[in-house]
Amino acid sequence: MTRILSAIKPTGQLTLGNYIGALRNFKNYQEGGDVLYFIADLHALTLPIEPETLRLNTRDIASFYLASGLDPKKSTLFLQSMVPAHAELNAILQNYLYMGELSRMTQFKDYSSRLKGKAIGLGIFAYPALMAADILLYDTDLVPVGEDQAQHVELTRDLVHQFNARYGEILHLPKTVVNKTGARIMSLSDPSKKMSKSDPKGDIFLKDDMDVIRKKIMSAKTDSGTEIIYNREEKPGIANLLTIYASLKNISIDDAVTHFKGYRYGEFKKEVADAVIDELEPLQKRYKEILESGEYLAVLQEGAERAKKMAEPLLAKVKEAVGLLNA
Ligand code: TYM
Repeated sequence: MTRILSAIKPTGQLTLGNYIGALRNFKNYQEGGDVLYFIADLHALTLPIEPETLRLNTRDIASFYLASGLDPKKSTLFLQSMVPAHAELNAILQNYLYMGELSRMTQFKDYSSRLKGKAIGLGIFAYPALMAADILLYDTDLVPVGEDQAQHVELTRDLVHQFNARYGEILHLPKTVVNKTGARIMSLSDPSKKMSKSDPKGDIFLKDDMDVIRKKIMSAKTDSGTEIIYNREEKPGIANLLTIYASLKNISIDDAVTHFKGYRYGEFKKEVADAVIDELEPLQKRYKEILESGEYLAVLQEGAERAKKMAEPLLAKVKEAVGLLNA
């Protein structure tokens, strides 16, 4: 059976970008796949974060996982930190990634430039080693992610080739799955930038009130033209809103453009806002119920137990291959 794995890190509030680029698609793999989704809480420590914020964000993501339709009977849901094999495999694999390639990672360059002269922790630099461990631990076939994480999965693939060339066919080669539409949702206030939890200007948060969402979309930056066409370079604001609409309605960008032919920008934005609200209002309601019930805790613990067992064989194989004695 095809094994699918993905994760979200609890560094901030979930955005519409996380939802469209990742979370919304997760449930589709549950049928007929062997799926693992976790919360990358160890990765969240790679940037400065208050302990209470990390705890709150983690609970939120767990609740949003369940609210989005992930079913613990069909998906293994857990916290990265609850399965020590992630950290163990990381400790081994980090020796097969190199300073040069790590320093070329876009995420590292972005984050370190945002720290503006402050000391840069080792974790943010070595981030892709832990991510490679996450993926390789479970012989993953497919890794569904937004565009910004694809580079890390590609690096994982390079690592597999290199490691296997030295030790034999030990690691399984994963494939990146990036959606054709919605893999890069842009900021509403600056559509040249990605919508990002760690750079919240122009974000829609999954927890925003509906009237705030409407206001944000109605004041989204567009251009001085009047035509609703898809052109990412010349009309990035309109292109972004078209992408959001098409993704949520499960239609192609072309169909969205046809639908909005002859609309004014104001009317267009109103329909995009309706589409976002139609999706997020019920999601938010389910999220609140789940968060209040606390049911996510048992789910994560049970998922972690399952994941621990699944991780054992590969970790043992890697230890054996590199010359560590297995107990
Ligand atoms: P994270 O938490 O930054 O983002 C979670 C998912 O959301 C996608 N995403 C977006 N998609 C479209 N438009 C956007 N503006 C946007 N912003 C974020 C991301 O691409 C991602 O799919 N390193 C990962 C977490 C991780 C992971 C893994 C993922 C840790 N280990 C193993 C896959 C496999 C991360 O920080 O994602």
